[in-house]
Amino acid sequence: MRWMKLAFLLAASALALAAQAQTAAPLKVGLMLPYTGTFASLGTAIENGFRLYVAGQGGRLSGRAIEFVKVDDESDPARATDNVNKLIKRDNVDVLVGTVHSGVAMAMAKAAKESGTLLIVPNAGADAVTGAMCAPNIFRSSFSNWQPGYAMGEVMAKKGYKQVVTITWKYAAGDESVRGFKEAFERGGGKVVKELALPFPGVEFQALLTEIAAARPDAVYTFFAGGGAVKFVKDYAAAGLKDKVPLYGAGFLTDGTLEAQGAAAQGLMTTLHYGDGLDTPRDQAFRLAYAKAYKLQPDVYAVQGWDAAQMLAVGLAAVKGDLSRKAQFEAALGAARIDSPRGPFTLSKSHNPVQDIYLRQVQGGQNRVVGVASKSLADPGRGCRL
Ligand code: BEZ
Repeated sequence: MRWMKLAFLLAASALALAAQAQTAAPLKVGLMLPYTGTFASLGTAIENGFRLYVAGQGGRLSGRAIEFVKVDDESDPARATDNVNKLIKRDNVDVLVGTVHSGVAMAMAKAAKESGTLLIVPNAGADAVTGAMCAPNIFRSSFSNWQPGYAMGEVMAKKGYKQVVTITWKYAAGDESVRGFKEAFERGGGKVVKELALPFPGVEFQALLTEIAAARPDAVYTFFAGGGAVKFVKDYAAAGLKDKVPLYGAGFLTDGTLEAQGAAAQGLMTTLHYGDGLDTPRDQAFRLAYAKAYKLQPDVYAVQGWDAAQMLAVGLAAVKGDLSRKAQFEAALGAARIDSPRGPFTLSKSHNPVQDIYLRQVQGGQNRVVGVASKSLADPGRGCRL
């Protein structure tokens, strides 16, 4: 009997030691982000935000040092599966963090689902990631493409616009942003009279701008981001449209882009889950720390990166750094209230932020929050079975 007790104690302490070794080892975070191309600055801001949060915790989360492995996904869906498999199979990462481009994110979600690797999406809004492709191990710290589009549809219907033309890149993010917009705008009594698009990441806008001028709609709704958004806003003004056909968009149109857009962006109104002038203690502290670390003002992408790290920290705290306790990690994160610079948010059943979508206006070098377009807006999570 005594021998059995001793054997049991020895086995238990061996298990405890193994668990301790596991939680003491560095946690490998695979950052799959664009570092080149039209979304390069977005990828950098996300990484900056993520690293800032980790640095604020002394470089460790739940006792585990954080080790980074990086892949430049170039916002190229054709190479996405190979790229994500480098992180999963070659580098054996514990966590995947990425990406910006919706098409690339869907390939990541598929690989994460198949391998069971934890994935936190710090930007890409692909509706399917927290819709038909949802999984217990997939979380998003950003938004769904539907969310800012839907909020702007409500705003523009309330403003009394009747006929609107949309213009975007022809890929998941553009299509879904326009679809969200159209759903709310047409429910509110408006009509989308023309849907214009060009292939991602094209910037030859001239012919489409001529079509807008000929159609003479009441207003235009658009989704562009990064380098493409800079060029679009400038071309729209240069074509003489800015004062004739009011331009509205999902907030990516003017986030992280204002310096390059200059006067062409002044006055534009957009909807997004972050903005300037929130003036909460959480946001002020975040902005101060970010400016100190990077000599830059943060944008929405930096916030999403910071929150991705914060979400990882929340889950890890619940399992004392032991990521093998997947069910507990997922339950804790799914139930968490995330204290974000954007304002607190929770996660929907399909793991997408339930959050306020702000109405912002470009004033000087800022996207000033001028109101809440949609309070606690939850993506419908269509097709998700969790
Ligand atoms: C997307 O592809 O989902 C996306 C890219 C840039 C900004 C926002 C969304």
